[in-house]
Amino acid sequence: MTRTVYVNGEYLPETEAKVSIFDRGFLMADGVYEVTTVLDGKLIDFDGHAKRLARSLNELEMKHPVTEEELLAIHRKLVEVNEVEEGLVYLQVTRGAADRDFAYPKDAEPTLVLFTQKKQAVNSPAAKTGISVISLPDIRWGRRDIKTVQLLYPSMGKMAAKAQGADDAWLVEDGFVTEGTSNNAYIVKDGVIITRNLGNEILHGITRAAVLRFAAEAQIKIEERPFTIEEAKAADEAFVTSATTFVLPVTKIDGEAVGTGQVGPIAARLREIYLEESRKTAI
Ligand code: PDD
Repeated sequence: MTRTVYVNGEYLPETEAKVSIFDRGFLMADGVYEVTTVLDGKLIDFDGHAKRLARSLNELEMKHPVTEEELLAIHRKLVEVNEVEEGLVYLQVTRGAADRDFAYPKDAEPTLVLFTQKKQAVNSPAAKTGISVISLPDIRWGRRDIKTVQLLYPSMGKMAAKAQGADDAWLVEDGFVTEGTSNNAYIVKDGVIITRNLGNEILHGITRAAVLRFAAEAQIKIEERPFTIEEAKAADEAFVTSATTFVLPVTKIDGEAVGTGQVGPIAARLREIYLEESRKTAI
């Protein structure tokens, strides 16, 4: 089936959708994005993603292409026409097309692109076994709180992990884990969840916010602070969160088993709670 995608006000077959070669997203990675999960044909945490998009745009002094209500309508229409029951909506805004110049162009209109991808996310084999991660130096830029499309280093990180027979990488800066290549990182020790505090060093995950809220409601203690790879290896459990993977256990770090080497009870419970609660509030 040919997908219907959205480009600057138009719904088009994916084969007919076009963006200028002068688009600054293409030339300079001058763009931001969001990924919203779809379960039961409904959007998970749309409000959080819309708010973070607005923040990313503001931080980069980019124009908002449409209102939040219009954005919701576009998401819903794409999910409907493409008959997505389970999968995601990808959204990208760039500063638009203009002659190449480092300075922001004054008159460019933002480019807004959205498309859907169908994907099995709930019944993931990795959720049952856990994933393995390697550690890598975090050499990304210093504004990781802005969700830009500069994803080459995360991409390289996943490839480095694969080359070592692992699934993903945790990034380390000044001796402390920042986050995963495309997810937030957590450990559990003596029943306490430890995850890096918010700042410019990490993306402020929408799933992170939800999971910490559910954990607090379930009376699980949380410490928001940096932790090292050594601390993680000695932890009882580890896991990552993102919109597309929910809560995913990490059972191996740099070849060493975390805890028993099996999926831990807190990660498993949080995954269940997250799925149940976010399905309830999906729109
Ligand atoms: N990635 N940290 C990074 C670097 C990320 O790229 C992501 C999300 C997260 C988790 O954020 P959230 O819970 O809002 O999805 C943390 C998305 C899913 C991606 O690039 O596909």
